[in-house]
Amino acid sequence: MSDGVDAAAARLREATRVVVLTGAGVSAESGLATFRDPGADPSDPDAAYWSRYDPMQMATPEGFHANPALVQRWYLWRMSRGEAAAPNPGHIAIARLEREMERRGGSCTLLTQNVDGLHHAAGSRRVHELHGSILRWRCARCGTPATDIEGPPDDAPATCRCGGALRPGVVWFGEALPQDVLAAAAEALDRCDVFLSVGTSAVVFPAAGFIETARARGASTIEVNRDPTPITSMVDVSLQGRSGELLPRLMDVVFGATD
Ligand code: APR
Repeated sequence: MSDGVDAAAARLREATRVVVLTGAGVSAESGLATFRDPGADPSDPDAAYWSRYDPMQMATPEGFHANPALVQRWYLWRMSRGEAAAPNPGHIAIARLEREMERRGGSCTLLTQNVDGLHHAAGSRRVHELHGSILRWRCARCGTPATDIEGPPDDAPATCRCGGALRPGVVWFGEALPQDVLAAAAEALDRCDVFLSVGTSAVVFPAAGFIETARARGASTIEVNRDPTPITSMVDVSLQGRSGELLPRLMDVVFGATD
């Protein structure tokens, strides 16, 4: 094959420890919008979020403080879209990669920037959610986990018993990533043989810097993305196309076709 699948498969076949980094592109074929898309038309209801909404308003502590009800409604809407979505063949192929690696005595650690829970739904188990989860809410004031969050009435935000506004368990711009997740990522990157980046624009740190760590460690690097990104010219193998098509093909070449 001339599109790089064979070259990527050769690297994976030799690997013992794989790290996969995913971004919003892997969930695009499940019907969820990405954040950035150079060609996006803002009037398209499915266009990338940051062409339709202001990230400073929706994804910062300051934006939440200024209008908690607006931000709550936006995440509740996204959560409902995520709950209605199903894992696509890209998620399923990544879950297969973990199973197959473990079967042959290796490992596959998944670092995801996605907050939609679709990797878990697809069966991935060794998953570290770098940016948290949209499915877990907590009080912004006292930290108590919130269950059964409902849409805030009018402009009043949904609150905790303590009176603090409830917030989604995601990491906003300007916030620190969870220490335990960062530590797990650092350990996995430090030991990996293959680093596979899937469906991320590779512009948001720290995830955008993971490839450097993996390369410094001597790992082979592979990218699967529909479009070129800042890391495309750095990787050993670049597979350009949809992850829901390329990843199942790649797994079939490495581990054998499934019915
Ligand atoms: N298959 C593969 N790649 C795809 C597909 C697809 N079907 N569809 C889109 N892509 C690519 C896009 O070309 C783009 O490079 O996926 C990438 C998605 O990039 P972003 O929207 O920037 O998503 P991500 O990299 O996850 O963003 C990182 O930014 O705003 C924050 O917190 C948010 O976690 C997010 C972070």
